[in-house]
Amino acid sequence: MSEANIESILHEKRIFPPSSEFSQNAHIKSLKDYQQLYEKAKSDPQTFWAELAQQELDWFQKWDTVLDWQPPFAKWFVNGKINISYNCLDRHLTTWRKNKAALIWEGEPGDSRTLTYAQLHREVCKFANVLKQLGVSKGDTVGIYMPMIPEAAIAMLACARIGAPHSVVFGGFSAEALRDRLNDAQAKVVITADGGFRKDAIVPLKPQVDKALENNAAPSVENVLVVQRTRQQVSMKTGRDHWWHNLEPNASANCPAEPMDSEDMLFILYTSGSTGKPKGVVHTTGGYNLYTHMTTKWIFDLQDTDVYWCTADVGWITGHSYIVYGPLSNGATTLMYEGAPRKSNPGCFWDVVEKYGVTVFYTAPTAIRAFIKMGDSHPKSRNLSSLRLLGTVGEPINPEAWMWYHKVIGGERCPIVDTWWQTETGGVMITPLPGAISTKPGSATRPFPGILADIVDLDGNPVPENEGGYLIVRHPWPGMMRTVYGDPERFRRTYWEHIAPKDGNYLYFAGDGARKDEDGYFWVMGRVDDVINVSGHRLGTMEVESALVSHPAVAEAAVVGKPDEIKGEDIVAFVTLEGGHDAGDDLTKELRKHVTEEIGAIARPGDIRFTDALPKTRSGKIMRRLLRNLAAGQEVSGDTSTLEDRSVLDKLRGGA
Ligand code: WT7
Repeated sequence: MSEANIESILHEKRIFPPSSEFSQNAHIKSLKDYQQLYEKAKSDPQTFWAELAQQELDWFQKWDTVLDWQPPFAKWFVNGKINISYNCLDRHLTTWRKNKAALIWEGEPGDSRTLTYAQLHREVCKFANVLKQLGVSKGDTVGIYMPMIPEAAIAMLACARIGAPHSVVFGGFSAEALRDRLNDAQAKVVITADGGFRKDAIVPLKPQVDKALENNAAPSVENVLVVQRTRQQVSMKTGRDHWWHNLEPNASANCPAEPMDSEDMLFILYTSGSTGKPKGVVHTTGGYNLYTHMTTKWIFDLQDTDVYWCTADVGWITGHSYIVYGPLSNGATTLMYEGAPRKSNPGCFWDVVEKYGVTVFYTAPTAIRAFIKMGDSHPKSRNLSSLRLLGTVGEPINPEAWMWYHKVIGGERCPIVDTWWQTETGGVMITPLPGAISTKPGSATRPFPGILADIVDLDGNPVPENEGGYLIVRHPWPGMMRTVYGDPERFRRTYWEHIAPKDGNYLYFAGDGARKDEDGYFWVMGRVDDVINVSGHRLGTMEVESALVSHPAVAEAAVVGKPDEIKGEDIVAFVTLEGGHDAGDDLTKELRKHVTEEIGAIARPGDIRFTDALPKTRSGKIMRRLLRNLAAGQEVSGDTSTLEDRSVLDKLRGGA
């Protein structure tokens, strides 16, 4: 976050209470109701969650222990048997919701589809049977690399139905990144499409899968299931690759949901951290189902008349929890949009809101800042009066963007839920409950009931009001990640050891800096580790550095974030070259292309600066703090006495 944003957040005093009309109709109607829930959950978390699990979800068999907590490993609803696909589909078929729209989909070229709960159930069952036919059984991992089409959600639910953990890889990731993830997850089948439509172009997916699997580089993968979307020419390898439309007609629509253990793995989702290799975040079944169900219900205040639209991609946790599982578990109507604002129609989002009468809209601050830049004429020329609630996620929102969202999109009538959470937390952790908690622009406000969040110093002591510290969580919650796939020690190290456990009490370390104000409101400032937040997506500096160093011209690379008006942060790379290579525009272009191939376009550095040497300490550690200052065009602040060679800094300052 830029200094200017931090300044404006520090001075933010505006407060927006929900209208009495909104509160009266909301699930949680008042601050008092919130406080009661919060206190109940705090004093007896197990009873709190167990009652909700009983009331809100269908279980094949009840658990015998609510929580088994052997820090840092938690098990929720031990020995309970449940299936999230059953909770998202089957149980609605015995109610009037059977013929309610479950999924409304709008393609970028303007084609569309609506699937009722009965239709979605049928599609999921068929898809599940095809997966079985391709050799997938309970416990096998399935890779999903898809555009934003209904089959992405269908594939996820089909995996969940037969107990095959899915690992969705965002369609913007490169073949290289896909291969690493397929290998780490040991995926047996990959589900993909020929391509998808985005920003007036075709995003090719099948060719990337082919590249990832080339030379048997991902040997666990036995079959590839391909959905036809864009109809461009793709190659199909006999015996390995299968068109969905060829297998679908013979697939039975009867596929009972597999009774899963509450702690069986539901999915792996890779996310960046402060080391080079992305972590496979593991989520399990029962706790995740309950947590995404409750957070969706109370935060988005879903009613049966709502048309709910989350603009995330299913390749991120937001898509998992708040396009697919949370809304469907609640029997809601969830909208999925394939495209993105683009030259030919910068106002396409508002067309979708108007066309379907969207009532709840959830997007990211980076998108809001892009809308501001595109101009008010686009939203103002559409009818947005159906909207009643807005949300944001992914990064801190600057108060000015919040105010614009409130006025121009929300017509000053819609509460805004600024939701703080992470891939690791499974669901939203700090957020207003919209009928109960007054909002302040730039603050995610208060913890969700059952979430004991706090701000502490490195010794685990709470910091005084309005002072910055580390954001932590004191008690396990049902939606928390269970481990890093294949690496429980990394799980312990990354999240539970930065702050030493005290008296056996483990604190979950989120990796964010934050403060709490006089009303107990949380203000999240951003990452405190080597993670950059580009357009709400997390990228590890080391990950981008490894990609750069894998290019033959590069000797060393140091990557930092710099404030960016639209993206929040942009990537700046400081690079030293191997002998015989010349710095220049051609190499800049080539390195940006190289990073795109290694990771994906989201990791492409906005700025590459060639230098003779990097500023290091005497022990050889790169001083990123100095580079961050330089990247932002600021004076180098703080202590530079540990710098080994001061002339390096002078040269970098000189714009070398
Ligand atoms: C990181 C998690 C969870 C879905 C999207 C990103 C930042 C997320 C907020 C918010 C301030 C936020 C944090 C967090 N973040 N939401 N409302 N206010 N910061 O998921 O890729 O796992 O990234 O995003 O820094 O640690 P993710």
